[in-house]
Amino acid sequence: MKSVTNPALDVLIVDDNKIDREAVKRSLFHTYGQGDLVVHEAGMGGAALQMLKDSRFDCVFLDYRLPDMDGLSLLKKIYDADAGLAKDPVVLLTGQGSENVMIEALRSGAQDYLSKDNITSATINIAMIKAREIFKLRRSWKQAEDRLHQAQKMEAVGQLTSGIAHDFNNLLTVILGNVHNIRRRIDLMNGVFGLREIQEKISLIESAANRGAELVRRLMVFTRQRAPLPQAVNINACIQDTALLLNQILGDGINVRISLAENLCMTVIDTGQLENAIINMVLNARDAMDGQGSLGIGTGNFFLDSGGSDKVPGMAAGQYVMLTVSDTGHGMRPDVAARIFEPFFTTKEAGKGSGLGLSMVYGFVKEFGGYIFVDSRENAGTTFRIYLPCIKSGQNEESFQENG
Ligand SMILES: Nc1ncnc2c1ncn2[C@@H]1O[C@H](COP(=O)(O)OP(=O)(O)OP(=O)(O)O)[C@@H](O)[C@H]1O
Ligand SMILES: [Mg+2]
Repeated sequence: MKSVTNPALDVLIVDDNKIDREAVKRSLFHTYGQGDLVVHEAGMGGAALQMLKDSRFDCVFLDYRLPDMDGLSLLKKIYDADAGLAKDPVVLLTGQGSENVMIEALRSGAQDYLSKDNITSATINIAMIKAREIFKLRRSWKQAEDRLHQAQKMEAVGQLTSGIAHDFNNLLTVILGNVHNIRRRIDLMNGVFGLREIQEKISLIESAANRGAELVRRLMVFTRQRAPLPQAVNINACIQDTALLLNQILGDGINVRISLAENLCMTVIDTGQLENAIINMVLNARDAMDGQGSLGIGTGNFFLDSGGSDKVPGMAAGQYVMLTVSDTGHGMRPDVAARIFEPFFTTKEAGKGSGLGLSMVYGFVKEFGGYIFVDSRENAGTTFRIYLPCIKSGQNEESFQENG
């Protein structure tokens, strides 16, 4: 229902009593002109629920008493447990003396309540403004809180992992060294009974240990055992280098589209880490497409002005280089998409994924002051957007290398 070209407020009034609906409507139109407000109405809880599922509303006025369900049950049905809020800003309309209902409504995610005996253009308007403001604030608190948790989790896992990875690497060196020695010796024992079986077993140990070594190598990159090498670069060049590998990674069934913006501004990154990040995202895209589909890699300049910051949650205003990696694969459910940057989160079967690919991409982006977002729908593909800050005007490549 909301569209960018129509900035009018969409309000839903849920009340089985037509006279009460008219009263709310009249009070709203006292303040808002016809072009500023679109009123939608529902007389039953079930119908309202469907409308709330299909569309977004700027405010919902919800009667406590409905013929098919009460307002609290409806609130509970549209409660978004992740955000601790109803799906849209809600004002519950109650009768007098319903304090318990009001408290319960606030607990169930409503932002405000209003007694039906007290509906005037002033009270309705204040309730709507308040509900919308509280809703916006609580959503942005929640997002800030989630970002903090994510950062703390990454830090804790990073510390734990770096200790284990180091010791584990030493153990693997011993295992692989001994396997190598045993193999050399048994290769000399031609004709011994059961030799082939022993050789096969040795190969299994060797390949398991090699897989372990690869995992440790990734853990060490993840926990930044190697100091990053920041350089001022045009990321188009890194993408062109990496693109040379894509055919080998992807196979014939996947069509690759690369679209690089001209005059891309420079950004400061470790090119090795960027290449790794791209390869990680491309490997995920390959796995999601199951050999058939199309992969897009694109770059562009992106400017976020201070007024627009709230359109990109948590992102600071400024000039950025944007890198997108999109695929036409199986996409993700929202509960999966919410966890993909967590270290060790994987939906792949045992042995197929470590769940570290995207945590490394996330770590790299954060290390260089950037942002990463994912848009994905089940069966409709996935797009990753990475924003990296441009070098500020006056700060050129040479001055960065001297100072950085
Ligand atoms: N392009 C994508 N399409 C669909 N799902 C994806 C995509 N990228 C990531 N995912 C989901 O995110 C999860 C985590 O990805 P991540 O790269 O961190 O680990 P992984 O691919 O499972 O293992 P690894 O990268 O270590 O091999 C994946 O298991 C998958 O469920
Ligand atoms: Mg991966």
